[in-house]
Amino acid sequence: PIRRLTVPQIAARKGAEPIVALTASHVQFARILDAHCDVLLVGDSLGMVSHGFETTLPVSLELMIAHGAAVVRGTARALVVVDMPFGSYEESPQVAFRSAARIMAETGCQAVKLEGGARMAETIAFLTARGIPVMAHIGLTPQSSNTMGGFKTQGREADSWPLHHADAAAVAEAGAFSVVLEGMVEPLAAEVSAACPIPTIGIGASAACDGQILVMEDMLGLGDWAPKFVRKFADLRGEVDRAAGAYAAEVRARSFPAEDETYR
Ligand code: KIV
Ligand code: NA
Repeated sequence: PIRRLTVPQIAARKGAEPIVALTASHVQFARILDAHCDVLLVGDSLGMVSHGFETTLPVSLELMIAHGAAVVRGTARALVVVDMPFGSYEESPQVAFRSAARIMAETGCQAVKLEGGARMAETIAFLTARGIPVMAHIGLTPQSSNTMGGFKTQGREADSWPLHHADAAAVAEAGAFSVVLEGMVEPLAAEVSAACPIPTIGIGASAACDGQILVMEDMLGLGDWAPKFVRKFADLRGEVDRAAGAYAAEVRARSFPAEDETYR
């Protein structure tokens, strides 16, 4: 039987083989990605990408659990990490534990991810000590877009660098097994990755990280817009548009279904 990658195996990738990660939220895509990725993240970006919310803030625990369970059912090899949604963990380590325990028990995932550095260190330590592996997420943290004043690249002013370093050190010290660096200028991401004892997984944070993650729909070219750091490895938007157009034309021409697509 194929064994899943484990949290210690991912943590051991520091300074070794790059960690390949993508987001996933639907079972059929998860089945395809599983063969290629070390980590599949059920990210709360699914609220924007799959449900049309303007931010990730309206995403509920129930929604994350529904998508997380689907991704776990569709995979056998990748380590599955599920995002803790806004409002489910910030209040206290105890509240975070209850939410994370539901996510772990009801989806079968191997770890959770939460946003925040030094301010979440106590919670990360609390969860880790109780059997819940935590992936941290620092730099641009979309759940705090209201306090940050939007989605802004981090580290453009060097006076912010000590804070980012302190965040990375705090989450590693607290026991996180890896940390997402989002939206960081390369020199900062490179310094943080070099100094941080756990693997850094970058999104818009340069090639200096120990791994990379992208939102699947972005890298497949499904969205109408994507940030500069996204490379479109496919044009699914074009392909789906072409297929839907071809289907519409065949139905209107009554050439679909054909003879061999019909029960006799
Ligand atoms: O929700 C998400 O997709 C994420 C990744 C961008 C890391 O948190
Ligand atoms: Na997220």
